[in-house]
Amino acid sequence: MNVLNVDLGERSYPIIIGCSLHKSASYLAPYIKGDQVLVVSNETVAPLYLKNLLENIDIPVLNTLVLPDGEQYKTIDTLNTIFDALLTYRHDRSTTLIALGGGVVGDITGFAAACYQRGVNFIQIPTTLLAQVDSSVGGKTAVNHALGKNMIGAFHQPQCVLIDIATLQSLPEREYRAGLAEVIKYGLITDVGFFVWLEENISRLVARESGAVQYAVEHSCRLKAHVVSQDERESGLRAILNLGHTFGHAIETHEGYGEWLHGEAVAVGMCMAADLSKRLGWISDADRERVFSLVARAGLPTAPPEIATEQFLGLMAVDKKALGGQVRLVLLQSLGKAIISADYSDKLLTAALSAT
Ligand code: NAD
Ligand code: GLY
Repeated sequence: MNVLNVDLGERSYPIIIGCSLHKSASYLAPYIKGDQVLVVSNETVAPLYLKNLLENIDIPVLNTLVLPDGEQYKTIDTLNTIFDALLTYRHDRSTTLIALGGGVVGDITGFAAACYQRGVNFIQIPTTLLAQVDSSVGGKTAVNHALGKNMIGAFHQPQCVLIDIATLQSLPEREYRAGLAEVIKYGLITDVGFFVWLEENISRLVARESGAVQYAVEHSCRLKAHVVSQDERESGLRAILNLGHTFGHAIETHEGYGEWLHGEAVAVGMCMAADLSKRLGWISDADRERVFSLVARAGLPTAPPEIATEQFLGLMAVDKKALGGQVRLVLLQSLGKAIISADYSDKLLTAALSAT
């Protein structure tokens, strides 16, 4: 078991990795301050892990709420059911919310914690690979609006993140592989050594070998924590965590949420970013191939669905990173070093869209 720290001054918190849910009592206790807890999970995760967790919380008021499963329920209406529960069970400002599930449960529970009585404590217990390496760390919380994904939200850091990698064993194959895209992302944006490690160990990761998974989760969290601690509210550097996302969001929007998983769309987006970086002369042909090869070996797509180039460009332009009409993209200066740039021509971008 390993403990990392997200260094944010008085909002600092630990990420406890490799902790078994069966034995989580002593790890959770210091982070539950009052005598009330609401555990929020969903109808898929609750039957698998809720009982284990509840056995490890010894507190006078322990309530649970099981949400419907799916991105389509990451809404204000679902958020309101959390407030309904908190008010019905008379939780006060000292309550602690615990999110047990993937990124959807984590984001919505975190946002409920940010809003309830102007902000209460919460703990993340992520159970998907994507949530363990990305969404549970860094304090971004949100729900979707009909006109845009994650458009209503807040920065609200958890008290701690508790990761039991054994929970990944029950994750459906497609969801697991989608999480690998975010792991590859960390190597590409900030750590070429990790990228090389991934090239050497990707088959162990695909097979969910616990040693390899433990290392990949831990190192990804370490890299994310480092970026977040330098730029908590994304005024600059943190945007590199969105490598592949502008391209990916265009694919997700075009296909309709849920058709392509977020990680699948990001995988293609990272390939497009690598292709454009090669066209700009920043990375070599060989490095571009290394990106495509690793993504493919992780069982992820490297090419987008059929989308007309004009439409693709239009979808990219509505991305949150568009500034003054020019879309800023996260691109690769080299493997292991990402930058945010609008320094590319439409011609090269168009070529990259049709080359992958
Ligand atoms: P998800 O939460 O929908 O989980 C995927 C599926 O796996 C769901 O059906 C879920 O019920 C199921 N599941 C979860 N854990 C399981 C387990 N251990 N065994 C079996 N099934 C399990 O999706 P996700 O990929 O975890 O998260 C995606 C969400 O995260 C999106 O809403 C995205 O916007 C958000 N996100 C947030 C951040 C952030 O920084 N806050 C970063 C990236 C993504
Ligand atoms: N997943 C992007 C971020 O946390 O900033």
